[in-house]
Amino acid sequence: MNNPDIIPNTIAFVKQQLKDAEGGHDWFHILRVYNNTMLIARSEKADMLVVQLGALLHDIADSKFHNGDESVGPKMARTFLENENADRETIDHVVKIIENISFKGSYGKLAFRSRELDIVQDADRLDAIGAIGIARAFNYGGFKNRELHNPDIPPQQYKTKAAYKNNKAPTINHFYEKLLLLKDRMNTETGRKIAEERHRFMEDFLEQFYGEWEGTR
Ligand code: ADP
Ligand code: NI
Repeated sequence: MNNPDIIPNTIAFVKQQLKDAEGGHDWFHILRVYNNTMLIARSEKADMLVVQLGALLHDIADSKFHNGDESVGPKMARTFLENENADRETIDHVVKIIENISFKGSYGKLAFRSRELDIVQDADRLDAIGAIGIARAFNYGGFKNRELHNPDIPPQQYKTKAAYKNNKAPTINHFYEKLLLLKDRMNTETGRKIAEERHRFMEDFLEQFYGEWEGTR
């Protein structure tokens, strides 16, 4: 039997963990992913506690901010859930979700898949596209002191980060290396439908962006 306070306790823990996080990765990102998760899970058969905890804990220690160490987040989540006396099965599943949710992880061979991972991964991907996705990308680029765009290197030809000075690709490239690919990687029907609208919004944004850049709009 899981602790009845586990969700409010997890929310308090995550808020505390992320209090100094960068704007695209803060508590409000978690809250949006949590809300997306609940929306998608309504039309899917899933273990609700697992998807809720997965959404809340999926970014507690992003490897980008822990010297690339991908084991910090899953370990931290396991310790937290053990202290909350969560069921062994719930803990193992939530930790696997955190380990396998990232875009990078989903490229290579997959160690783990479940309906619950599918749902939380879609919810996280939805927050990377559309208007919010655009805002997050430029926020991250600003945080990393990146150029917005560099017309000397056409983004459509972007292949390797080495093409750029200091390996710092302008933020607009992130659309081609990741954001525009996400709609075809959605796992659930509900996620796919929402992704399509957000994808169109990004395409419109890019058209407008280049038009303004060239002074034709
Ligand atoms: P997640 O929330 O799934 O952990 P990431 O950690 O990959 O997502 O990235 C967090 C946010 O920062 C996302 O909105 C993502 O698009 C953005 N981001 C990541 N890498 C870059 C980049 N190189 N340029 C611009 N934005 C980026
Ligand atoms: Ni996330």
